[in-house]
Parts: sequence; structure tokens; C-alpha cells
Amino acid sequence: MDRINFLKDLNRKYFNGALSTNFLTRLQQLPVDRPDVFSFVERMFNFVRLSGIPAKDLSLFHADVMGTLLARILPGGWGGKIPPITVQGRHAIIDTYIGNNPYLKSNGKTMLDIGCGFPPFTTIEVSNYLKNWKVVGADPSLPAYLVYDEDGNYATFDDTKSIVYFQPAIPSIDNWNSLLSDASSTKKRFEQLLNEFLINPKTEGFPRLEIDPIKSYETEFLSFKNGGIGEIEIEEKDVIRCFNVMYYFDNNFQDKALNWFSQKTVEGGIVMVGGDWAHSTECYYHLFQKESGELRKRNLHLV
Ligand SMILES: C[S@@+](CC[C@H](N)C(=O)[O-])C[C@H]1O[C@@H](n2cnc3c(N)ncnc32)[C@H](O)[C@@H]1O
Repeated sequence: MDRINFLKDLNRKYFNGALSTNFLTRLQQLPVDRPDVFSFVERMFNFVRLSGIPAKDLSLFHADVMGTLLARILPGGWGGKIPPITVQGRHAIIDTYIGNNPYLKSNGKTMLDIGCGFPPFTTIEVSNYLKNWKVVGADPSLPAYLVYDEDGNYATFDDTKSIVYFQPAIPSIDNWNSLLSDASSTKKRFEQLLNEFLINPKTEGFPRLEIDPIKSYETEFLSFKNGGIGEIEIEEKDVIRCFNVMYYFDNNFQDKALNWFSQKTVEGGIVMVGGDWAHSTECYYHLFQKESGELRKRNLHLV
């Protein structure tokens, strides 16, 4: 179905035609070739209708996110891989909550941040905040190679030199559009840069290549592992945090993940699973505590 008819149908079906022209105009940027994006938007509208939110309460910001951002953050835009997107400062409130936790009964100070993304900004931030804690970040997409172009836009590559992800230096809509308007030539350009730098290394300024870049973020208190939930070898931790990861998986995987978190948490330790946007807003969290060998749900009050 084309974009215009898709939007007309949605407006009629979920809002009796009450979505504003401004809202619909923003949605007109939906990519026509992405059924995954169309079905995601339809699902969101269905939830909005089920929760009784009227069309007039949908913000234009939501329309922008649906119209432009969704296509970039769904795996369909990245060959089926979950993009390692993260936002600096997004878990600030969660970091504070872990530091002053009313439940944590274990005496240790160890934490796993699984699905930490790259660059692992939020893991670095929690490590800086929780002084003297030993923090491990883990992600299956930690790059083997990181290439910056002359403008500071970057691309990550796995160990087979296949491109995993790229992002503008400043991820504004215009900058994204300039990289994505011809994604395959953007990829080729980064691949060429990688090949050039492997022959003639350039490791400072822009453009440049970093090999195994995660190592540069490690400290006495912060280390990283390449691998995902259920894949990495790791000792039990006092805190496990898994944010902005579960959205991408079905219930079956989520159940298995919780089971693995339970095995990897010390008795009395906590597990936090959820998602958020910038500055810990638009958040949706679950808190569990391990008691008598099992994860039990706890109330989470963030201020
Ligand atoms: C949207 S990013 C979230 C990054 C960071 N946690 C945050 O909240 O900003 C999702 C991350 O999940 C990672 N991921 C994908 N599959 C995973 C798995 N099976 N286990 C753990 N992480 C996974 C992706 O590589 C990606 O870096």
C-alpha cells in the first residue's frame, strides 16, 4: 500500500479521521519500502486507541519520531541487526537509583550492563557515577573496527570487515538524511576508508581508524565483553541492567533472558530491565530482586 492511503486508512481506523494535518504531514516521511515501519506504526496506533488517548493528545514529536526515526532504529534498516544506538545521559536517573537502592541486599558492588551499545556512553556514565564499583558492559555488536570520515560521521565493522552500523557526527534529521539518502554509497565510502586505513593507518583526527576501539574505554573499574544475553561467560553480579534491548525481542526470548539474568545475579541482587529516551524520559522499567534463588518483581519509584 502507498504511504498516503496507509495514513488515510490508519487515521480512519484508529482515530475516526481526527489526526491533525500537521501530524499527518510529518508522517509523510515514512519510507514507502519498509513494511516493518508501517506495521510498527499501526501497532503503536492500536495501543494508543486501546488506551483511550485521543488523537489531539498525540504530540508532533511522536509524529516526527514515527516518520523519520523509526526506520533508522528498527533492525530492518540494518540488515536485520539491532543497531547499537545509545544516547548520552539517558540513564542518569537509573544510575542514581542503583547508587541509592532500597532493595539491594548484597554487599558487593558489581554490575553488568548488557546490550550496552556502542560507543558505550551509558556504561561509562554509570561507571563514573558508581565510584569503586566494578562494571562490565557487554554487547554482541562491539566493533572490531571503527572508521570516522572527514566530518566525524562514523561506521562500525565486525571482524569480517562487514559494516554493522553508521551514524552522523551530529544525529540530526538532516544529517541522517544525507547519509541515508543513498545508504549503499555511504557504506561503500566507509568500506573504502577502512581498506585505505588498513594499508596506510591514520589513527588521529578525522578521518581515522580505530582497531578494537572498545579497549580505549576500559579502566580499572570498567571492562567490556563481546556477546549478548546468554552468550557471555560472566560471574554473578549485584546489579544487572538491560535497557533498550528487550523491545526488539519476542516473549519467548524475554523469558529466557530473565532466566539467564536470574542465574547471573547474586542472592539479594537486582535486575533492571526497561527502556527510555533521552534524560530518562519516556521510560518503562521493571525491577526484580533475587530472593531464594528466584527473581521477584519489586516496585520501582523513580524521582
Ligand atoms: C538500542 S541499543 C541500547 C544501548 C544502551 N543499552 C542504551 O540503553 O542506550 C540495543 C543494543 O542491544 C544489543 N543487542 C542485540 N542483541 C542482543 C542480545 N542478544 N543480547 C544483548 N544485547 C543485544 C545491540 O547490539 C544494541 O547495541
